[in-house]
Amino acid sequence: MRTADIIMKKRNGGKLSEEELRFFIQGFVSGEIPDYQASAWLMAVYFQGMDPEETGHLTRLMMESGDVMDLSSLKGPLVDKHSTGGVGDKTSLILAPLAAACGAQVPMMSGRALGHTGGTLDKLESVKGYNVSVSQDELKDIIAAAGYAVIGQTEEIVPADRRMYALRDVTSTVESIPLITASILSKKLAEGADSLVFDVKCGSGAFMKTLAQAEELAASLVKTGESMGRRVIALITEMEEPLGRMVGNFLEVEESWNCLTGVGAPDLMEVTTALCARMLVAGGICGDSEEASALCRSKISSGEGADYFKKNMMAQGADWDWFLSRCGSWRAPVKADFRADRDGYIRDIDAFGTGMCALGLGVGRNKATDSVQPHTGIHFLKKRGAPVKKGDVICELFAVNEGDADKALTALESIVTIGSAPLEAKSLILKEIGA
Ligand code: URA
Repeated sequence: MRTADIIMKKRNGGKLSEEELRFFIQGFVSGEIPDYQASAWLMAVYFQGMDPEETGHLTRLMMESGDVMDLSSLKGPLVDKHSTGGVGDKTSLILAPLAAACGAQVPMMSGRALGHTGGTLDKLESVKGYNVSVSQDELKDIIAAAGYAVIGQTEEIVPADRRMYALRDVTSTVESIPLITASILSKKLAEGADSLVFDVKCGSGAFMKTLAQAEELAASLVKTGESMGRRVIALITEMEEPLGRMVGNFLEVEESWNCLTGVGAPDLMEVTTALCARMLVAGGICGDSEEASALCRSKISSGEGADYFKKNMMAQGADWDWFLSRCGSWRAPVKADFRADRDGYIRDIDAFGTGMCALGLGVGRNKATDSVQPHTGIHFLKKRGAPVKKGDVICELFAVNEGDADKALTALESIVTIGSAPLEAKSLILKEIGA
C-alpha cells in the first residue's frame, strides 16, 4: 500500500477501506507518514467527506491508537456528556453531581479553554488543590467515592487525535464533519463510557454557527456512536448569549455551586436539566426525559447534588474550606461596571464577543501553552430580555489591571445591544437527535 494512492483515492472522491485507513492512521501515529502527506489527506477528506462506514472505521482506529480505559469494575451505568464548546458553559460542573446523585457513574474527560471558549479543567483548577491529572486507578477510586471524576486527556489516550488535531489546526481542516466526529468520539469512547450525551452548540459562540451544520454534526455523532454499540443522544442547544450569569474560571465554579444550593439562572438550568435528563435516559436510569428532569430537580432541592459536588471536590484534592470562604468574594483586583446607555430591553449579548472579551481579561488562552487567570471574568446582572434603565449596571468586570478593564468595557459596547421592544422568551433546546 502507498500513502500517495490513499490520498489520490480520497482526492478523487473514493471510499477508503478499513485496511487503507488502518495503514494511514498507524503510519501517521508512528511518524512514517510525514505531515505533508497527512496534510494532503486531511484536505482531501475536508473536500470529499467520508460516508458513515468510513467515519466509523476512522473513529475506531483513532480510539485504538492509544489506551482504552476499562471501568467495568464500577457499579452503575457509565454515562458522560460532551459539549462542543461555548461561552459561560458550566453545565458539566452542575450535571455531573446531579447525575451521580441519581445513580450514574460519570467518567468525564474534559478540555481546556482555547480561543473564545472556556475549559472545564481550567475552571476546576482555579480551586486550590483540585487535581485533574490522575491515574486510571485513582480515577476509579474517585468515581467510586463521588460518583464522578473530571480528568484531563492523558498522553496515552488517543495519540492519533492529538497529532491530527494539531495538524488540522494549521492546515484549515478543522471544520470537517467526519474529522470532528472521529476526533470527539474516539476520545469519548476511549474513556470507557457506555452511554454518551452530546451538547452540540449552535450560534455565534459555537463552533457550528447554523442549525443545519449543528444537525449534521449531531446526526454524525449519534450514528457513529451507535454503530460502535453505545447509546447516544445529542441535543442541539442555542449559544447566542453566554450561558448563565458568570464567565470566568473561579466565577463559573462558584456559579455552579450556587445552582446546586439555590436558584440558578433560568437559561443555565434549562440546558443543564435537559442534558442531565438525557444522561439518565441514555444510561437507562429513567424511561423518559420528563421523569428524568423531575428526578434531576429533586436532587437539587434535596441537597444531594450539592453533596456529590463536595464529595468530588474533596476526592480530587480541593481545599473545601478555601473554596467556600472565597465564594462571593474572590475576584481579580480591578472592578469595572458596564452600564446601559439608554432605556429599553437587552436584545443581545453576543456570545462570541463575550468569549473574546473574557479572553482579553485572561480567562482563556490564545494558544495551548498560555496560562489563565483564575479570578478574572464577567458577571452579568442582566441577561437577554431584561428591561434596563439608562445607567443600570448590566455586568461587572474583574480584571488584573486597568488597561484590560478599559479594553473590555469598550468591547462590551458592541457586544451588548439594547432595543426598545420586549423580547419573547424562547427555549434554548433547538433539537434532539438519537435514542
Ligand atoms: N473538538 C474536538 O475534540 N475535536 C474537533 O475536531 C473539534 C472540536
